[in-house]
Amino acid sequence: MTGTEPILSVRSLTVLLGGRRRWLRQSVPPVRAVNDVSLDIRPGEIVGLVGESGCGKTTLGRTVLGLQRETSGEIHLDGAVVSGMSPAKARLARKAIQYVHQDAAAALDPWWSIGRTLREGLLIHGMRDAAERSAKVAEMLTAVGLDPTAAQRYPHEFSGGQLRRVTLARMLLLSPRLLVLDEPTSGLDMSVQATVLNLLLELRARLGLTYLFISHDLSVVERLSDRVAIMYLGRVVETAATATIFARPMHPYTRVLLAAAPRLDRAKDTGVDTVIGDPPSHTQVHVGCAFVGRCPIGTDLCRTTPPPLRSIENGHDVACHYAQPADPVPAGTVRMHAVASAK
Ligand SMILES: Nc1ncnc2c1ncn2[C@@H]1O[C@H](COP(=O)(O)OP(=O)(O)OP(=O)(O)O)[C@@H](O)[C@H]1O
Ligand SMILES: [Mg+2]
Repeated sequence: MTGTEPILSVRSLTVLLGGRRRWLRQSVPPVRAVNDVSLDIRPGEIVGLVGESGCGKTTLGRTVLGLQRETSGEIHLDGAVVSGMSPAKARLARKAIQYVHQDAAAALDPWWSIGRTLREGLLIHGMRDAAERSAKVAEMLTAVGLDPTAAQRYPHEFSGGQLRRVTLARMLLLSPRLLVLDEPTSGLDMSVQATVLNLLLELRARLGLTYLFISHDLSVVERLSDRVAIMYLGRVVETAATATIFARPMHPYTRVLLAAAPRLDRAKDTGVDTVIGDPPSHTQVHVGCAFVGRCPIGTDLCRTTPPPLRSIENGHDVACHYAQPADPVPAGTVRMHAVASAK
């Protein structure tokens, strides 16, 4: 299903947020929300972007979309550079990419019927004929498994799972080729989660879509993604095919995430942080590896030299000095550390 040339290519992307507030005469260090990230997504692929809360997933997604300006680095869409533009031009150049919001209800106007919201989107995109707009809306509601009469209802009349379907229909009306899905199943119970995931797989197959799928839930990522990128404090620290990540994780952070996976299914606030301690500040400048303070195998080399993301095996890249193809970091070490810290 995947082609050879990437549909999206992110090159050494860095995004600094906040920082000095001139009007308050305050000097606040900027947050390095995305730090030197490179990532390719091929047509038809589902890439899962995983990491604990605050690691920069949404910022990366918003920057890919053009909703957030990059500080440095490049973004290529179908081989053409689409970064380094004003926000308005950036969004226009990236109209093939659409965003499914972390909070489905917040993305819809509570005072407008679903039909009005969806038709308005089509009008903005130049569909002048009212009957044509209504027919297209009915077609898309059906495509996401809703009855066309849903067009007459208001956002508060839908369940969480139905609202995710509505936001998907809204994006699909714009004929995107790449969807950035930001936690599309968070807050849904298991059975509704499963139907939304099945719908996403079905839409990919039927419409030839490509997804950047953001989640902190490893079980969901395992179910949906072809490839996974693990993010830690703004950086991608490991990327490989999904089966490889789950069978042979190499970065100590990925191993801790996998060891703590059942806990991640619970509330975000009680997620991996309680298992392995707090992450360091995003504003802190790290001389060596940003994970060294929480790493069970960190050495002086890690404290002084940042590990680059390097290819360890075919299609398996890891940013750890000690990642090796034949003899990766012993799993027991990290698992024991995780359990000990949780007590
Ligand atoms: N406008 C802003 N100004 C300053 N810092 C910000 C701003 N927006 C986000 N941040 C910081 O940037 C970092 C990355 O935030 P981001 O929302 O991308 O994380 P995330 O991985 O999506 O987290 P979550 O899983 O909770 O959604 C966080 O430390 C956050 O506090
Ligand atoms: Mg987020």
